[in-house]
Amino acid sequence: MMYAKPTLLIWFLVLMFLIKEVRPRVEFTNLKCTSVDEDFAEFSQCTLKSINRTYKYVSVRVKLYKLPITKARVNFGLYKRFNGYKPFLYNQTVDGCRFFNRQKANPVAKYFFDMIKDASNLNHSCPYNHDLIVEKVSIDTVDHHVTNILPYPKGDYMLETQWMLNDKFAGEIQVYLSLF
Ligand SMILES: *[C@@H]1O[C@H](CO)[C@@H](O)[C@H](O)[C@H]1NC(C)=O
Ligand SMILES: *[C@@H]1O[C@H](CO)[C@@H](O)[C@H](O)[C@H]1NC(C)=O
Ligand SMILES: *[C@@H]1O[C@H](CO)[C@@H](O)[C@H](O)[C@H]1NC(C)=O
Repeated sequence: MMYAKPTLLIWFLVLMFLIKEVRPRVEFTNLKCTSVDEDFAEFSQCTLKSINRTYKYVSVRVKLYKLPITKARVNFGLYKRFNGYKPFLYNQTVDGCRFFNRQKANPVAKYFFDMIKDASNLNHSCPYNHDLIVEKVSIDTVDHHVTNILPYPKGDYMLETQWMLNDKFAGEIQVYLSLF
């Protein structure tokens, strides 16, 4: 009996370690999609879903009514919450039409794009003749990027992307994340 307690304690610590390792260190906390002119671009989907404790994802669909899209400029700004959300590290505008063929020239955009590319139909250069779909980007994918590839300090973040399509401001998507 003298050994029971330490043994249990060790198993308990191993279990805690495993739980800590398995649990995502990133959470989606909110998702906002704002369109400017619904005759031009409309969000038909903007969802953050929690299937269970470990499987969470975001999906976004944009219906485009003035096809084809031959010009796309995307600004993405990262914000971190200090006393309100403040710009943090990145604020870049990317030519979406050129980006696909020159991903290596723009490592920061590539970093963010890699999180969604397998889940989206944005995986080609212009023109776009279809709605834009980002389907089920899981928290695991995001977790892998923000904790393994390029670690960020803990805190609350917001990634804002603003979309200029055919020289018209179409809308913006804000993804809120917490790292812990
Ligand atoms: C969470 O849901 C996914 C998808 O339905 C499933 O594959 C996975 O086993 C579930 N995990 C838990 C812990 O229930
Ligand atoms: C990014 O830069 C543009 C142009 O300088 C500015 O208008 C915008 O507010 C900036 N956004 C962030 C997130 O800092
Ligand atoms: C699009 O995605 C597929 C599958 O992930 C990949 O094989 C292909 O190279 C991608 N195309 C471009 C233009 O990146």
